Amino acid sequence: MAWGARIAALPLLLLLLLAAAAAGGNSGVHCLEEGSPSPSRSRRALQGRHHLRSRAVGGATVLELRHHSFNSAPSKSREEEADAVLSSDAARVASLQWRIEKYRLIGSPDAAAASKAQVPVTSGAKLRTLNYVATVGLGGGEATVIVDTASELTWVQCEPCDSCHDQQEPLFDPSSSPSYAAVPCDSPSCDALQVATGMSSGSPACGAGRPACSYTLSYRDGSYSRGVLARDKLSLAGEAIDGFVFGCGTSNQGAPFGGTSGLMGLGRSQLSLVSQTAGQFGGVFSYCLPLKDSGSSGSLVLGDDSSVYRNSTPIVYTSMVSDPLQGPFYFLNLTGITVGGQEVESPGFAAGNKVIVDSGTVITSLVPSIYNAVKAEFLSQLAEYPPAPAFSILDTCFNMTGFREVQVPSLRLVFDGGVEVEVDSSGVLYLVSSDSSQVCLAMAALRSEYETSIIGNYQQRNLRVIFDTSASQVGFAQETCGYI
Ligand SMILES: *[C@@H]1O[C@H](CO)[C@@H](O)[C@H](O)[C@H]1NC(C)=O
Ligand SMILES: *[C@@H]1O[C@H](CO)[C@@H](O)[C@H](O)[C@H]1NC(C)=O
Repeated sequence: MAWGARIAALPLLLLLLLAAAAAGGNSGVHCLEEGSPSPSRSRRALQGRHHLRSRAVGGATVLELRHHSFNSAPSKSREEEADAVLSSDAARVASLQWRIEKYRLIGSPDAAAASKAQVPVTSGAKLRTLNYVATVGLGGGEATVIVDTASELTWVQCEPCDSCHDQQEPLFDPSSSPSYAAVPCDSPSCDALQVATGMSSGSPACGAGRPACSYTLSYRDGSYSRGVLARDKLSLAGEAIDGFVFGCGTSNQGAPFGGTSGLMGLGRSQLSLVSQTAGQFGGVFSYCLPLKDSGSSGSLVLGDDSSVYRNSTPIVYTSMVSDPLQGPFYFLNLTGITVGGQEVESPGFAAGNKVIVDSGTVITSLVPSIYNAVKAEFLSQLAEYPPAPAFSILDTCFNMTGFREVQVPSLRLVFDGGVEVEVDSSGVLYLVSSDSSQVCLAMAALRSEYETSIIGNYQQRNLRVIFDTSASQVGFAQETCGYI
């Protein structure tokens, strides 16, 4: 158990002081204590153009990872901010459901028709929760990009820009990079793009009036990136990858991207950074996602040199579920959940319950049959606390006003092969209000059994999560994140 005298800060800056180690690790005793809101240092770091650090160690390249807080007006109350984060998260979850379904339908003759009848577009909602960033070198410059395991293509905003969001670094300028080259229409990379972007044959990357291989990434919530496919030199801690294929985006929109130069696609398919750097890094990467605490860092490690990890428990591996129509997503079988050591019973586990592990979704969303069972177990174990109203997508809430100490039941996810992953105690409850009168279970229900459960980043923090695409497995170990 990694329980110790450490301080965990929840995103909303209410500090949970871990007061005591729980015997057997079945529960945590927490003191509720309020922290004062302060502007995020990661935002300031971006504004000050402090690039995140990186270094090469042995066979691995280590990039510093930071929580990216954007557009978080300091005048907003904690509740308002929580509401914005959670509704954005709901939009991402809906967008992912639509994309998962779309990939599943590629290859079926009805794909084009079916893709029109998916999850409705969430109007107005801004996707703002893709929130971990790292800095890489591209061409001659540097780009601080969002790290996204559910995306394949890496893209940055490019000159000449038709429409770009504000970013802290200078825009990538193809004309000033001698190693830049547009990807021609008849190249394998351009063919792969069709799959990467889930484009149906109705919207070809090439064709009349399109001299270059063009791409459109539409995240289904109003945000998008459009441009041409290009190659340039990618540098990761001094390691150069020549001819790296990425999207040079001349028309980009979306609140989540604010301040950053674009997005790093770490998905599981041909055009992703993982596949393109497989020669150097063997198709293996891992991350440790830090808490949102101002100034805290984590790390993104490329390569399988486990000597750079700081895991406090042994790494346990579970197999990825292989499916030719998986798109960029990392699917695992979730076979069980335990709450406070108690196994949760749900018919949902019996059916080979495929879930995706995503770095860009905040709150874990589960199919209703599983969520309701988990909820019932929490309600029973936290029965001593009076209920509080639901908040946004969180419907299991308690009024903890007046309680100095809270027994937080442990939460374990069990994957194929009996692999148990203990969620960091800071990832179990979400403190909505400043006075602990609304403390909610940090998980939500999907709308139907047919949707795909998503393990979000709130439940992955302070874990080393290793994606090994060559051995087709995902590893987990507890780790207190830092830039290692
Ligand atoms: C996941 O569950 C499915 C359905 O039960 C099963 O066929 C598969 O072998 C399981 N494991 C993996 C790694 O795919
Ligand atoms: C929470 O409990 C306190 C003390 O019992 C009470 O005054 C307050 O109205 C409750 N708040 C909510 C949101 O239920």
